[in-house]
Amino acid sequence: MEKLKLNNGREIDAIGFGTYKITDDLTAGNTKDIVRTALRVGYRYIDTAAFYQNEEDIGEVLKEAGIPREELTIATKVWKTELGYEKTKAAIRDSLRRLKLDFVDIFLIHWPKAGPDDACWRENVQGSWKAMEEAVRDGLIRMPGLSNFLPHHVMAIQEVMEVRPVLDQLELHAGYMQQYAVDWLRKEDILVQAWSPLGRTRLFAHPTVTALAEKYGVTVSDLLLRFLLQQGIGVIPKATTEAHMRSNLTPRMFAISDEDLSVLLTLPRAGWAGEHPDFAREEVDFRFSVK
Ligand SMILES: NC(=O)c1ccc[n+]([C@@H]2O[C@H](COP(=O)([O-])OP(=O)(O)OC[C@H]3O[C@@H](n4cnc5c(N)ncnc54)[C@H](OP(=O)(O)O)[C@@H]3O)[C@@H](O)[C@H]2O)c1
Repeated sequence: MEKLKLNNGREIDAIGFGTYKITDDLTAGNTKDIVRTALRVGYRYIDTAAFYQNEEDIGEVLKEAGIPREELTIATKVWKTELGYEKTKAAIRDSLRRLKLDFVDIFLIHWPKAGPDDACWRENVQGSWKAMEEAVRDGLIRMPGLSNFLPHHVMAIQEVMEVRPVLDQLELHAGYMQQYAVDWLRKEDILVQAWSPLGRTRLFAHPTVTALAEKYGVTVSDLLLRFLLQQGIGVIPKATTEAHMRSNLTPRMFAISDEDLSVLLTLPRAGWAGEHPDFAREEVDFRFSVK
């Protein structure tokens, strides 16, 4: 398994298993079966969140799987309605109870703001961070991190932090690379992790992407994952079928040329989920979607 180094010296798997909406499609089976399959296939990094409402099921599967705790990396997140010191303190305990764990490896603030007009976000995320640092000291969280924080949001954390965020999880894929944020996070030594690394399949029919996949003789998912991994960006693809899980855990090893990297990095916006912490939701970009 490819590893990525964090600013505290620890390493995490470069490829984790995303669990958002794993059971939206009822034909896909239930959450427990899907997570059981993911563990059997070999995933050891699981990304969940209080918002996904699957922590209880994941906790049950982890308990029955009997995988040594030190082999697992479990990441969860506090939702935007639970920001602030007291609420986040309670949210950490609630997640641990649902996951049936003594500690989580990575705990993230899911979004920096309750909504685009949230005037109190700065004090709230600073309070959340204090609660998370306390939980680190109490052994409830190994490593604190962020999600959907752009540099100006991270700066609010930096004003008060004693423990640095280890990573920031952002929507990143060809067609939505948020390059300023990625470069800034790298400069601050905060690992960048990509959510929706496959653009939720919204890039699968993009002519530039399909042409490059063909050129390298790989699948579109191989190309999209390798594109991120080659840049040292972690990925947490979600899959409900075993074939997709297997393929994503071992994306073909090949080097994308500098020229083609540039093509993918400068692709005009495509496949964006439409979410931005500071603005109201925009229409999702389905132009090149196959579904
Ligand atoms: N921090 C945040 O705010 C945030 C937001 C969104 C997501 N996330 C996290 O990021 C994870 C991944 O993002 P995502 O679920 O939005 O989207 P994604 O991983 O980009 O795409 C998932 C979609 O791709 C399909 N797929 C997966 N592997 C494939 C393959 N090898 N070939 C063809 N199709 C494949 C899946 O189909 P099947 O299900 O049919 O296999 C599913 O429809 C989430 O599950 C969640 O853990 C975080």
